[in-house]
Amino acid sequence: MISKKIEDAFNKQLNAELYAAYLYFAIGAWFEGSNLEGFAQWMKAQAFEEMSHAMRFYNHIIERGGMVELYAVKKPEITLSTPVEAFGAAYEHEQKVTRMINDLVDLAREEKDNAALIGLLHWFVAEQIEEEEQTLKAVERLKMVEGSKEGLFMLDKEMGARPLIATATILNPAATPGE
Ligand code: FEO
Repeated sequence: MISKKIEDAFNKQLNAELYAAYLYFAIGAWFEGSNLEGFAQWMKAQAFEEMSHAMRFYNHIIERGGMVELYAVKKPEITLSTPVEAFGAAYEHEQKVTRMINDLVDLAREEKDNAALIGLLHWFVAEQIEEEEQTLKAVERLKMVEGSKEGLFMLDKEMGARPLIATATILNPAATPGE
C-alpha cells in the first residue's frame, strides 16, 4: 500500500510530467511556425515520451492501491525567438525535473518506501541524466551552426529522424524494454 504522502507527491509529479508534454508540444509548435519541421518532430516525440513518464506514475499509484488525482495542466508560458532558446528552455526544464525527482527520492527514503525508490524512482534518476544530456547537446550543436542556414537545415533533418513512440508504450512503458 502506498502512503498518503507518496500518493500526493506522485500525483503532483504525474501532473508535472503532463505539463512537460505540454511544454514540448508548445516548443514544437514554435518550430512548426519557423518551418523547422525536423525539430518540431523531435519535440513531438519528446512530448509523447513525457506522457509515458506520466503513465509510469499513474500505473505505480494504481498498482499499489492508491488513487490517481488529475490536476489541471497549466499553460506553458514561453517566448522564443531562436532554436538555441527553444532547446535552452527544454534543457532548463529538464534540470528542474531532475530536482523534482531528487526531492521524490528524499521523500521515498524518509517514508522507507523501497517499492517507490527501486521500482520507480531509480529509473527516473537514470532517465534524467539522459534527458539533460540530450537537450544540452542540442543547445551546443545549435550554437555551433549559429549563422549557418545550411548547418541548421542539416541538423533539422537529423533531429527529425527521431520516431514517435507507440501508444502501447505510452500507456505501459515499463513493459517495453529500453523505454
Ligand atoms: Fe519526464 Fe523530460 O522528464
